[in-house]
Amino acid sequence: MSLNRNFVSQLEQQIEQLKTDKVYKRLNFLDSPQSARVKMEGRGDVLILSSNNYLGLCDEPSVVKAGKQALDRFGAGTGSVRFICGTFTIHRELEEALARFVGTDASMSYVSAWNANEGLTATIVQEGDFVVSDELNHASIIDSIRLAKAITKCTTGVYKHSDLDDLRAKLAANSAARRRLIWTDGVFSMEGSIAKLPEILQLAREHDAIVIMDDSHATGVLGKTGRGTAEHFGVLGEVDVITSTLGKALGGAAGGFVAGPAALCDMLTQRSRPQLFSNALPPTVAASALESVRVIEREPQRVERLRENARYFREQIIESGFKPLAGETPIVPIIVGETAAAIRMSDELLSEGVFVTGFGFPVVPQGQARVRCQISASHTRDDLDEAVRAFRKVGKKLGVV
Ligand SMILES: Cc1ncc(COP(=O)(O)O)c(C=O)c1O
Repeated sequence: MSLNRNFVSQLEQQIEQLKTDKVYKRLNFLDSPQSARVKMEGRGDVLILSSNNYLGLCDEPSVVKAGKQALDRFGAGTGSVRFICGTFTIHRELEEALARFVGTDASMSYVSAWNANEGLTATIVQEGDFVVSDELNHASIIDSIRLAKAITKCTTGVYKHSDLDDLRAKLAANSAARRRLIWTDGVFSMEGSIAKLPEILQLAREHDAIVIMDDSHATGVLGKTGRGTAEHFGVLGEVDVITSTLGKALGGAAGGFVAGPAALCDMLTQRSRPQLFSNALPPTVAASALESVRVIEREPQRVERLRENARYFREQIIESGFKPLAGETPIVPIIVGETAAAIRMSDELLSEGVFVTGFGFPVVPQGQARVRCQISASHTRDDLDEAVRAFRKVGKKLGVV
């Protein structure tokens, strides 16, 4: 029997097209932990400004040690799904810590935030419900709603980015629905903007709606002690459901969670398909994430350092003539126009030893291609100054400043 050659040649043609369109993604291989600087194969020492390692916990000694100890204590993995072959005590400990951290009664962990989002919507909606989503929500939210619609026949809508009038109109038009659910990111990853959470909560109260917020880029980042968007706005405990990742500020390994009322998490155990049909988070990863939460609780000054680093970088990059999107998060997108310009800029920056990814259409709107800088608490002032010098040099070369 021979392989299906047509299948392979069609894929090869598609890849060629991506290269022609200059949107082909090339992987860069690293041979060191995620940190402010990484060892990149073929490049040597590179300053990284495109990691979600916001608090520098990926290689924090106590986080790594907790993972190693869990490997010794619990072994490599879970062996099956939780309700079939038992659930580890480390998962319960992690879930209690996550709930405490984000200000909810309970939480349920998943192998990724993608999985958490996907497993959530279809579990809690039914036919007759209306789900409305911000147009810039993360792909995992979009797909979770598509899946829920296919499974349950709920109805769905999209409101213009952070446009409260549009959201209000869509809620009002669906006042006869059995239930209304509003899905929003806490921080929008391509813009670095923060959801207008207090106003969304107010609208939800007026229209008897449920608010679900994906805080993946805000957990460990926003709020005085890193508890996220709700803490940032002083509304901790007022969001019905929060989802987030363990793959960014909380150690950066992998994993995600849904946090909310205990009855919701119990229902996820009963009905959420990734819980029922897929293995749980490896215990090593659960232990590292748990230690990450403890580090942030012990050392809230890391969150302050992150905020100060982001403020400094923004100020320096503006002084250098760039026009980043306005904001106060550690995500600093610099708009350069066409996709090819963003990719060229990212390549030139890498030649200068600074790793920043360029994003173009269709990830962001046509003509708004950007390089997206992400600042970490682990960056030193020297790191940030070095990055700004590289930006200035490349910006001049490409005629951007
Ligand atoms: C807002 C948001 N939600 C979910 C995810 C998915 O996270 P994970 O890597 O844990 O699946 C991401 C990752 O980029 C994200 O930015």
